[in-house]
Amino acid sequence: MVRVKARRTLKTLVILCVIAGFINNWSYVSQLLRFESHRKTTEVVINPHPYKLVINNPRKCSGSDVFLLVLVTSAPENRAQRSAIRQTWGNENNVPGTVIKTLFAVGKPGKPSIQHSLEDENMVHRDIIQEDFVDSYKNLTLKTVMCLKWASKFCPSAKFVMKADDDTCVNIFNLVKRLQFTVPEEFVTGYRCYARPIRAVDDRWYVSEEEYPRETFPRYPCGFAYVMSNDITGLIYQTSLTLKYLFLEDVFLGLCLEKLAIDPVHDTRFHHSETTPSCETGKEWIAFHWIKTHDGMVKAWQDVTSCEESLS
Ligand SMILES: *[C@@H]1O[C@H](CO)[C@@H](O)[C@H](O)[C@H]1NC(C)=O
Repeated sequence: MVRVKARRTLKTLVILCVIAGFINNWSYVSQLLRFESHRKTTEVVINPHPYKLVINNPRKCSGSDVFLLVLVTSAPENRAQRSAIRQTWGNENNVPGTVIKTLFAVGKPGKPSIQHSLEDENMVHRDIIQEDFVDSYKNLTLKTVMCLKWASKFCPSAKFVMKADDDTCVNIFNLVKRLQFTVPEEFVTGYRCYARPIRAVDDRWYVSEEEYPRETFPRYPCGFAYVMSNDITGLIYQTSLTLKYLFLEDVFLGLCLEKLAIDPVHDTRFHHSETTPSCETGKEWIAFHWIKTHDGMVKAWQDVTSCEESLS
């Protein structure tokens, strides 16, 4: 019995090696193997993601080798923020010669009028994806899982995927420079946070022991902006299905990464404080956040681009 199983495993391995030779992509096969071994031991889906796409742009990535897919998580009513991002850092033509695709990820709004508005907006810009879960703070993790799923399913050619909130400004020039010489394999970066669950009941980030019994969170990239190589988005998505839901989306991502033994790379250029960068202090920055208005975003981007010009 054991011998038969071993022989079968060997056979599978040989076949996989041959395939690997063919497609010259060992890392992909090792991913598969790793995931397969995971699944065989403990993997049971306890956290399914049964939501359906209501608005989709399935051909967004087709026909081009995408370098960077940017997925901006946004609340349905934040039309002004999305408009500001389209005009500024989210413009797909910011970096000549680099194919960037930008999409906004939303859930289901409470009001039908907002749904109509979203559909109109998508008719004009063709850059929204929406699943049919209720859009709310406690459901943010669903949005992240949706992004992972979408990236692996509809944009497999992309090398890197960024997730950013809609109050984040990204210095896309610095980001592309950062990624240009990075091998797009098993890579996650951002401002790496390390925290404990807050047990004060009235806190916004309160987490009960029932939701999360451990004393500390694993290391995780802070949610305002993080980047990963697209070879692992499908793997992280599959892993997410096997972990108990936690509404803190970045911590939840950290839990998936922990399970996959992938350590996020800490990068302080993802700026996790409320100060806005100036050319002196901020020319290296990749992302900063807490930008709550349309004008604030335009101003932040003007600063970024004027720094770029003064440098070149
Ligand atoms: C999250 O979304 C699900 C599915 O739409 C919904 O049933 C649930 O009430 C939502 N949770 C919150 C806290 O909004």
